[in-house]
Amino acid sequence: RHPGWPADLGPLRVAGGLVTVRSVRLRDAAAWSRLRTRDRDHLEPWEPTGETPWEMRHHISVWPGLYRSLRAEARKGLMVPMAIELDGRYCGQITVGNIVRGALRSAWIGYWVEKEVNGLGVATAALALGLDHCFGPLGLHRVEATVRPENEPSRAVLRNVGFREEGLLQRYLDVHGRFRDHLLVAMTAEEVSGSVADRLVSSGRATWA
Ligand code: ACO
Repeated sequence: RHPGWPADLGPLRVAGGLVTVRSVRLRDAAAWSRLRTRDRDHLEPWEPTGETPWEMRHHISVWPGLYRSLRAEARKGLMVPMAIELDGRYCGQITVGNIVRGALRSAWIGYWVEKEVNGLGVATAALALGLDHCFGPLGLHRVEATVRPENEPSRAVLRNVGFREEGLLQRYLDVHGRFRDHLLVAMTAEEVSGSVADRLVSSGRATWA
């Protein structure tokens, strides 16, 4: 166990409904497989290239092994893998990864949300809750994210929670079959006065439920 795992964050209310974020579970298998398989075209352009075909990689039988490896990383304090729920229903994931302690106290954050509920503020709310978890219980100083310049919706999400752009990482990550440029964005604890979720509420993008 380490501070920040397991996680139970929110709720925040946005246009789409009530957003909560919690640790992934073994019983997420069916929802994970169904959404990831159905939304392939929505997800694949933005995600790391896999070693096996998409359908096979997202078969329901894959989740238990994946879940156990995520949980093992979480227990070691290296990662916080979380599900995003909208009105109590699994609709995506948000992950804090590569948690480094010591003088760096840094991690990255990444997320996806099913296509059907896009544009309703879900990712923005989940990210705000995730960031408060990073700077609060996890005790991190810096959180970064990388995003393809072409990914306008995700760039809007990052901007709306207050991420600052740091530069362009050329041919950074193997995504959708090729090494792609990514923008590096970051936030440090000094840039958060109070909480990121409170700031979202003050800006009128969400309300505390
Ligand atoms: N151009 C510009 N802005 C756009 C566009 C567009 N074509 N489409 C949507 N947007 C804006 C919306 O207007 C909204 O901004 P606003 O609140 O200022 O109006 C924002 O994008 C979307 O905000 P949310 O509704 O909170 O986000 P949503 O729940 O729809 O999730 C997400 C967005 C996560 C990018 C989702 O579409 C997704 O899962 N995409 C596929 C996977 C992915 O790209 N993941 C992110 C990878 S990068 C990373 O993890 C750091």
